[in-house]
Amino acid sequence: MKGIEHDGKRILVVNLDGTLYAWDGTCTHEEYDLSMGFLTGDSVTCALHLSRFNLLTGEAVNPPAEKPLGKHQVKIANGDILVEVA
Ligand code: FES
Repeated sequence: MKGIEHDGKRILVVNLDGTLYAWDGTCTHEEYDLSMGFLTGDSVTCALHLSRFNLLTGEAVNPPAEKPLGKHQVKIANGDILVEVA
């Protein structure tokens, strides 16, 4: 997993068994940087208060976070990883 930033917006790009996903990179609890967290299987755990998010669905599966992560389109083109940021 890798955190990137564009126009002040954090994005979390993850490779799960060869499939890329791009999610909002800011925890929906108190806005901590999720790239500082821990990737375990198909979920990321926020390092600040240990909320856990499913990286297949974006769902918050462990409190204190309750809101899901926003999803971004991601693809590989000419060897570059491209993320669409709304
Ligand atoms: S900021 Fe992520 S769990 Fe609190």
